[in-house]
Amino acid sequence: MSNSSNIESILSETRSFPPPATFTAQANIGSEEQYEQLWHMAKDDPSKFWGEMAENLTWFQRWDTVMDGDMPNTKWFTGGKLNVSYNCIDRHLETERRNKAAIIWEGEPGDTRVLRYQDLHREVCKFANVLKSLGIETGDRVTLYMPMIPELTIAMLACARIGAVHSIIFGGFSADAVADRNNDAQAKLVITADGGWRRGKEIPLKIAVDASLEKSPSVEKVVVVRRTGGDVDMVPDRDLWWHDLMADASAECDAVELDSEHPLFILYTSGSTGKPKGVLHTSAGYLLGTMMTSQWVFDLKEEDTYWCTADIGWITGHSYICYGPLANGASIVMYEGAPNWPDEGRFWELIEKYQVSIFYTAPTAIRAFIKWGNEWPEKHDLSSLRLLGTVGEPINPEAWMWYHEVIGQERCPIVDTWWQTETGGIMISPLPGVTATKPGSCSRPLPGVVPDIVTEKGESLEANQGGLLVMRQPWPHMLRTLYGDHDRFLETYFSTIEGCYFAGDGARRDADGYIWVMGRVDDVINVSGHRLSTMEVESALVAHERVAEAAVVGFPHEIKGEGICCFVTLKHDDGTEDLKAELIRHVRHQIGALATPDQIRFAASLPKTRSGKIMRRLLRDIAAGRESTQDTSTLEDFNILAKLRNDEE
Ligand code: WTA
Repeated sequence: MSNSSNIESILSETRSFPPPATFTAQANIGSEEQYEQLWHMAKDDPSKFWGEMAENLTWFQRWDTVMDGDMPNTKWFTGGKLNVSYNCIDRHLETERRNKAAIIWEGEPGDTRVLRYQDLHREVCKFANVLKSLGIETGDRVTLYMPMIPELTIAMLACARIGAVHSIIFGGFSADAVADRNNDAQAKLVITADGGWRRGKEIPLKIAVDASLEKSPSVEKVVVVRRTGGDVDMVPDRDLWWHDLMADASAECDAVELDSEHPLFILYTSGSTGKPKGVLHTSAGYLLGTMMTSQWVFDLKEEDTYWCTADIGWITGHSYICYGPLANGASIVMYEGAPNWPDEGRFWELIEKYQVSIFYTAPTAIRAFIKWGNEWPEKHDLSSLRLLGTVGEPINPEAWMWYHEVIGQERCPIVDTWWQTETGGIMISPLPGVTATKPGSCSRPLPGVVPDIVTEKGESLEANQGGLLVMRQPWPHMLRTLYGDHDRFLETYFSTIEGCYFAGDGARRDADGYIWVMGRVDDVINVSGHRLSTMEVESALVAHERVAEAAVVGFPHEIKGEGICCFVTLKHDDGTEDLKAELIRHVRHQIGALATPDQIRFAASLPKTRSGKIMRRLLRDIAAGRESTQDTSTLEDFNILAKLRNDEE
């Protein structure tokens, strides 16, 4: 049936892959019964469930109340006191983990460093003392604008140790973006580096900081790590070298006892309109969520070598490079640079070199690997891998299959993890020892997560009807507010569907209860009264052997309301008119006449955000032949836009 608030689903994917028995036998959650029991307990009695889970953290003072108040203003573990850095470091020092590698780091030029837990402790304590010596107090905001070097993690944990609130800005953002965020957070201190390495070039960070500070007067001091050795202007009385400050710092610094709800960090995420949103996460609930989901989803074991390829400037890096894995005492790999430097085999070389067992990356990276060709992974021994993950966008089934076959060698379960900056941690994901995976589905909710798929009026939809993905119950690691703008927080996430959290994605649930995320609801197109998910048309295109990547958008169409315009990147050769016709036939054949593309446009690459998400709103303007009025400040490469426009016939 067709209802105006439903999204019609046209993707039919029937492949299913049960977890290998050998994986199940050793998994942290190892049976369907165990999953069901945990999930129902968490739904029916969340206070009991999360109270039991919270025994996994180390507390200075136990909480009085697990869950205090209703969504959206639920507080967690009130009355309790703990310290996030203590939980990520100090408590491991009392065990054999003190000699274990915490961070195995490799710079893009090939330099390496290993920090054992006791080394990390020393560096974090020293830098926490540096922060104090610069006048940073509990609650003050500190901006981190740094490359992927160990000092970034050290600085995060040092902030957490004294209760300062970090705000990390991805190193690809401009000086203006840094200034806006400094101002919004009223940051007192900026920590940066001279630069970082990316594809053999230096990304100059300090220069951008200097420019940003002309517009952000709250900042009093700047700490600069020497990474590339590039030229920097050090402003007297304002700018200080990291190594000078650390040389004199004491390695003893008690972790401050902080309330469970003490703010841990602000992370800015772009809104579709208006200024960036300062998502605020707090201490105990966030830490617990990232710790437990790391155990459940990544099946972390003492002997694992775990690599998440995200930049720490995004939530994935916060939660699954730093806080979740370190709270579990894991060994993490951290890499500074690009996946195609010095060649397209760098990631596979790192996996072989460090014997990585768990590998977590993004669909956009996977599509790039496919384009670069199988010869790169085939040159390396990937037999250390036992689990693969993906996050950030819906993964097209054919990209999933490639990941499964070429990287996982049909041996490794894939966890397709759905979550958001706002949710703090993974919400919907297979459990690798339990869930039979279906390519393209993030499968089922984790314990503590109660999703629903509803109409715009909030009515639950039946199986296979697409609608809005919402959360009906609060969870410990959810955002608490948008920094300085609680009204915007309420309006953005809690006003669309009464009593529910809604952050913009469309999805459907299949007859087995598996969730298929169809992308942002803004990306839905309406063809002749049928609301279609652009992601499903994209998946059909990517299933064609010559297609590497596709982005589908609607454009105004006299007859159909909206027409379907497909931007297609090919694996090798240039596209021809014949190939266009073939792709149109292919999509018709795969999903039906309703989804017949009106236009196919070949593009050398697609416009993406710096975290790798395709910017369909820009493509919409191009498809409609409009000048763009959109904010392009988060675009990775401006040249792509100019090129796409010039390619218009
Ligand atoms: C999308 C990243 C489908 C989704 C952790 C969400 C996904 C947005 C998936 C959040 C997935 C993330 N399948 N879509 N497995 N994971 N998304 O805040 O649209 O950078 O709302 O957080 O990415 O992006 P964010």
